[in-house]
Amino acid sequence: MSDLVRLSISLEADLAAELDRLVDQSRYENRSEFVRDLIRERLVDEEWARGGEVLGTITLIYDHHQNGLTDKLNELQHEYHANVLASTHVHLDHHNCAEMIMMRGKPDVLRELTDGMRKLKGVMHAAFALSSTGKGIVRGGHHHA
Ligand code: NI
Repeated sequence: MSDLVRLSISLEADLAAELDRLVDQSRYENRSEFVRDLIRERLVDEEWARGGEVLGTITLIYDHHQNGLTDKLNELQHEYHANVLASTHVHLDHHNCAEMIMMRGKPDVLRELTDGMRKLKGVMHAAFALSSTGKGIVRGGHHHA
């Protein structure tokens, strides 16, 4: 962890009250921890905007009785084998499956794969989330232990 620097910032009273409300509502112990994570989030946003390598996950909900769907999903994942790191399949009930796919690569490529899956008949929902490979995030702080 790098050395701590103490900053003093000026905020309008309303905004300061909102900050304290957000800190109270969250699991953060103090304002510093909260602001640290806000900055880290911005750094991750910046990574995405620069088009660097990111980590992404797709959560798919689909009906496995839909003709040919599982084959198509499988083919797509093979097409993007360089980006797919791992996947987990859960049988939700008699008809419905959930699949969580973890990916690594350029944001555009990961979005392309997600859209390819999303538009297949029988896919009811495809949630896409981006995160960081960790390279662009500044370490430090004692939380998340
Ligand atoms: Ni299943």
